[in-house]
Formats: sequence, C-alpha cells, structure tokens
Amino acid sequence: MSAARKAMIGRSREIAELAAALDAAAHGSGSSWWLSGEAGIGKSRLLEQLGALAAERGARLAWGRCWEAGGAPAFWPWIQVLRALFAETGAGAVPLAPARRAVLAELLPELRDDGWRAPDESSLAGEEARFKILDAVGGVLAEAARRAAPLVLAFDDFHAADPSSVLLLDFVGRAIRELPLMVVVSCREPDGSRSPVAPLLGALARRSHPLPLGPLADSEVAELVAATSPSALADSVSATIQHATEGNPLFVIEMTRLCAVRAASLRVSGAHDATGAGALAIPATLGSTLRERLEAVPGATREVLESGSLVGREFALADAAELTGVAVNDAAVHARAAVDAALVAEVAPGRFRFAHILIREVCYQALAPARRAEAHGRHAQGLERALIAGSAHTSWAECAHHWLAAGHAGRERAIAALRRAALAPRRAARLRGRDPGPRAGASRMGRGLRRRGAARARRAAPRARAHPQPRR
Ligand SMILES: Nc1ncnc2c1ncn2[C@@H]1O[C@H](COP(=O)(O)OP(=O)(O)O)[C@@H](O)[C@H]1O
Ligand SMILES: [Mg+2]
Repeated sequence: MSAARKAMIGRSREIAELAAALDAAAHGSGSSWWLSGEAGIGKSRLLEQLGALAAERGARLAWGRCWEAGGAPAFWPWIQVLRALFAETGAGAVPLAPARRAVLAELLPELRDDGWRAPDESSLAGEEARFKILDAVGGVLAEAARRAAPLVLAFDDFHAADPSSVLLLDFVGRAIRELPLMVVVSCREPDGSRSPVAPLLGALARRSHPLPLGPLADSEVAELVAATSPSALADSVSATIQHATEGNPLFVIEMTRLCAVRAASLRVSGAHDATGAGALAIPATLGSTLRERLEAVPGATREVLESGSLVGREFALADAAELTGVAVNDAAVHARAAVDAALVAEVAPGRFRFAHILIREVCYQALAPARRAEAHGRHAQGLERALIAGSAHTSWAECAHHWLAAGHAGRERAIAALRRAALAPRRAARLRGRDPGPRAGASRMGRGLRRRGAARARRAAPRARAHPQPRR
C-alpha cells in the first residue's frame, strides 16, 4: 500500500459529518448519505475512511460495490452485502427463518437447503418475486442492524447499479430513521444523471443527506504530491501539477507518478535535472496522463493488463494469462510489475483490481477492436463452461455480457445466456428486436426465442459434446 493510499488529505468536514451520523446510528437513529462527484475526486477513498471510522467504533460495515464493466447480475451490490452479513458467525450471526431463506436463496444459491444448484436467475424477474425479495432483505437488514448496532452499508459506484438494486435501496431507506443503520452511497456524476435509472437515483439522492465532493485545495494538492512521490519533485513541478489537475486527486496522483518516472529515467540517463522538471511536457488531460503511465511499463505487463481489462475492473490472474496466451507464472511476474507501478492492486491471492476504473478503461481502449471481440468470445466460452459445471463464481448475466461484446458471432449465445439471467427476457427481446424483419410482440418473441433456441440446439448437437450449451 503506497503512502498516498494511507494518507487521507482534507475532507475533514465530510468526515466529521459521517462520524456524527455513525454515532447517531449507534443510538438507534439511522440515516442515508449520498456522496457525489466526478471520477477520481475521492468518493471511494472517503468510503474507505468511513470503513476505518466504523472499525474504530466497533460498528459493522458491509460493502456493496457495483460492477461498472457491464454484465453483473441483478441485485449484485446487495448480494455482496448479504454474503458479508451471512458470513458472520457467533453473536452477530443473523438468524434466517426457512421461508425467508427460500426467498433469499434466489439471490444466494448457497443458502439452498437442498444443496447447491446453478442459480436460475430468471426466477427473480416477476414483480411478486421482486417484492418478496425486498421484504426479505428488509427484514434481514433490520435484524442485522439491531445486532450490530450500528450496521453501516457502503455502496460504491451506485451510478452503475441495476434497477432492482436501486429499488431495494429505496425500500430500505424508508425505514432507516428508526434503525441503527447507516447507508452511504457513492455516485459518479454526470454518469448518475445519464443512467437508465437516473430518475430513481435522483429521488434517492433527494431523500439522503448530500455530500458533494469538490476539488482539493491548493495546499492539499501539494500535500498529496509530496505523499505520492518517492523523492522530492521540484517546486515548479508541484506548482504545475496543482495548476493542471484542478484539485482532482486521481489526476494529481497519476501525474505525480508520471513525473516521478520521468525523473527516474533522467537520473538513469545521467541528465542534470532529476526532479522531473526537465522532461515536463505535462499531458493536458487525465486520459492522456493515464495513457502515458501505461506506456511507461514493459510491453508484456501492458498485455496482461489489457487482457485483464476485458474481464472488468477486477480479474483473476489465470483469466488474464489465458487471454494473453502466456503461462500463469509469467503473467504473475508481469502483474507484479503493474502492482509496483500502482496500476493494479492484488486484492486476494491471484486476483487483481485496477487502481481506478479509468485505468481499466485506458487498458481496454488500447486493445484493437477485433482482438477485443475475439477475446470476449473466448472468455464467454470459458464462463459458459464454468456455469454448466456449477460454478458459483460467475453468472449468466456476466456470460451474456461477454458474448454480446464478442460481436455478431456471439449474439445467439448471448441471447441464450440472457434468457438464464435475471430480468433477461426484456433485454433478450430488445436484442432480438434488432433483427431485420417485422418486430414481434414480447410474448411472441419469447416463443420465437424458445423455438430458435431449440432449432439451434439441434443444429449444434454434433458439436455439443465439445462445447456444451447452457442447460435450459
Ligand atoms: N482526500 C484524499 N486524500 C488522499 N488520497 C485521496 C483523497 N481522495 C482521493 N484520493 C486518492 O485519489 C485516487 C482517486 O480517488 P477515488 O476515491 O478512487 O475516486 P472516485 O471514487 O471518486 O473515482 C485514489 O488513489 C485515492 O486513494
Ligand atoms: Mg470510486
């Protein structure tokens, strides 16, 4: 963990407000908070700080991180929250009555009494099913909050939340004042305002206490530069960074690292000015800064990162190795170099997370479109095999996302996967609606999908042994 990551600079007013709310929640008076601001302004960092505050006070905090790269199943951030709550044992364990367990097993297949079986996500789609889930989660949270006193839920990147997750948060928020429960949501702007569920997000934001994050002050930027750079940069460099980044911490950190890399290479080449100033053609935007940072790492490392970016913000090394076509041991060496360059962090053994979603974006954009589509197809195929074998580590929604990104060749397999994913019928129908020819109504479309699926299965029968199709 770098010094910049440990040091929390500024934001004292926001931290004080959250600390007071945490104390109020401990006394049974809960509240909802809405952190908003542009990419890189420090929303996730403030949530991490809240995590530290909660730990100091003995409160329990559960994370719900939305998956921004597409393909997360419905209720994804809530699934993470519930998994964390049910993982608790001892006095904090939340009791689960059989009826509630049966409802929640639709989200968490591991709760099934009759043993594990692959989740049939389409069973979540109906209005009635959805209400049962809202009610069951509401009940579990109230119980968990009373036991934890207080319980804190931290939802990161909620601009990327699916509609079911937003509805559930709305439902939970309505009873929060009488519970030892605190909900803190981060939402990137303007992405939240452009989300398909923007009106719902707007209504939620209005019912929460607003915490809009603005730029860091000049003195705070200087502090961040000093905390990030391994050796002192010239004052002129620091001043230029302040001016160019307009107080966006991500921009500050990435530009400081870029200047430090340049200074180091000047030092190696024996140039006179080793403070970074000599090579100071400052990139004008955060995007170009990130691209230059990526170009500064060895090509083999870049390739592993690019493959990882196909998977999403977080990826397993084994997947990145396979997509790159290198041995896992070699990929591990390259990934280590990316960790040293602070482009990714190892979040669990063999699992890496891009330091910021924008770094993932830059890696992804660096891939040629044809390579991207081909690799998405290969990854989708691997996920499909894992799902059929009963893996709980992926979902039909994720599989469908990769088939879709594989382009035309993956479309039929995407439709098949979408049919298995939560709320898929509407999406599959939309996709089918792009077919040339007359547009069918939704139910006719469903029947058509089934017929085509069966015909495709018959056509694919000879290949089916080598590439098993999803169960229907
Ligand atoms: N107040 C702060 N003090 C120190 N580092 C910060 C601060 N705010 C953000 N950062 C760092 O800046 C980078 C971007 O912040 P992040 O919280 O990921 O932004 P966001 O979630 O708003 O996109 C991260 O490396 C983070 O640790
Ligand atoms: Mg963030």
